[in-house]
Amino acid sequence: MNLDRRSVILGALGLAACDFPVAGAVASVPPLRGASAHPIGCTVTAAECLDVIASNRLAEQFSQLTPEFEMKMNALQRSDGSRSFGAADIIMAYAKSHGQSVHGHALVWYLHQPAYFTALANTQQVIGRELDRYIADVCGHFRGAVRGWDVVNEPLSPNGEMIRPCLWSNALGDDGYIIRSFEAARQADPDAILFLNEYDLESRPEKRLAFLKLVERLLRAGSPIDGIGTQTHATIDLADGAIAETLRELAGFGLKIHVSELDISFGAPRFDIESLASKRARQAQQARAIAEAYLALPAEQHYAFTLWGMIDSQSHLRRPPRNLVDDEPLAFDESGRPKPMARAIYDAFAAAPPAQGDGVMPGR
Ligand code: XIL
Repeated sequence: MNLDRRSVILGALGLAACDFPVAGAVASVPPLRGASAHPIGCTVTAAECLDVIASNRLAEQFSQLTPEFEMKMNALQRSDGSRSFGAADIIMAYAKSHGQSVHGHALVWYLHQPAYFTALANTQQVIGRELDRYIADVCGHFRGAVRGWDVVNEPLSPNGEMIRPCLWSNALGDDGYIIRSFEAARQADPDAILFLNEYDLESRPEKRLAFLKLVERLLRAGSPIDGIGTQTHATIDLADGAIAETLRELAGFGLKIHVSELDISFGAPRFDIESLASKRARQAQQARAIAEAYLALPAEQHYAFTLWGMIDSQSHLRRPPRNLVDDEPLAFDESGRPKPMARAIYDAFAAAPPAQGDGVMPGR
């Protein structure tokens, strides 16, 4: 643990460091999106787009948005076989009017198996045809407006021993459903940047290896994969250097890299005397290391650096099933004030060489 003297004294006295004005708060940080031309992203919901406070905050800070639910299959798929684009279209219109690009998340995910699909005959022919039609409809609807897609989300089992069994793999084969999904997405929106997105790649080396092998197989099969999304749901205890090693290994294929769902948890609640200020400082160190490791990749491989939520109180970690109600995994506190994590990200991006390649494409 990285306790400074003050934290230890505060802890020993039973004082919460947050009673003091310097408890890890940062007076002011310029908007993250102003730090550089690199896309810096955040999740968004349609409800936030319609809420004055939330929508102003997101517009001020971020140059790219990832819908948190609205482009997932359970949100888009109706039981009669048609699709429901209303909520996602609210986000598209909002992003366009604020000069933000949109990252589509996620076409195919083992966790989303809407009733329409599970009621179908579980054959290669039927599931294949309906999955193709789904991807054609969705990518077609957002064609030219969404910058990139997570085509398949979380393909591996938690430790990476196997492809996660799901409706799609059962009908179309383990690699088969992934290959088919990428082909359908390429056909439906030839200019969208297509990603395979996975979690725990920085914390489980054996899963990372399995993921690298999967990407290699997909590329060998001629799959039109353009990028790798590494979710990066990290903790403040992440080993030094783990993220840099991970990003370097993932970048070995020359594909685009997306730090796609960053949050940095304080970890499971435990008895400790570490002050809030110390936890926030360690969180900021991790954030800086992750941003710097991303920025150190070859310029043409940068896609975006995306946070999974803006303010702590909205983090998915605070909700079921995790229920980490005291956790502070994000860069802004519940009132929207920047934490040291925001400062660290801003500083890393502001110090980096200018973005190259396609950068932010408002409306795309
Ligand atoms: C999460 C949302 O943030 C939650 O609110 C929702 O209930 C479940 O999905 N990995 C992913 C994201 O790829 O889609 C997940 O988002 C978080 C983990």
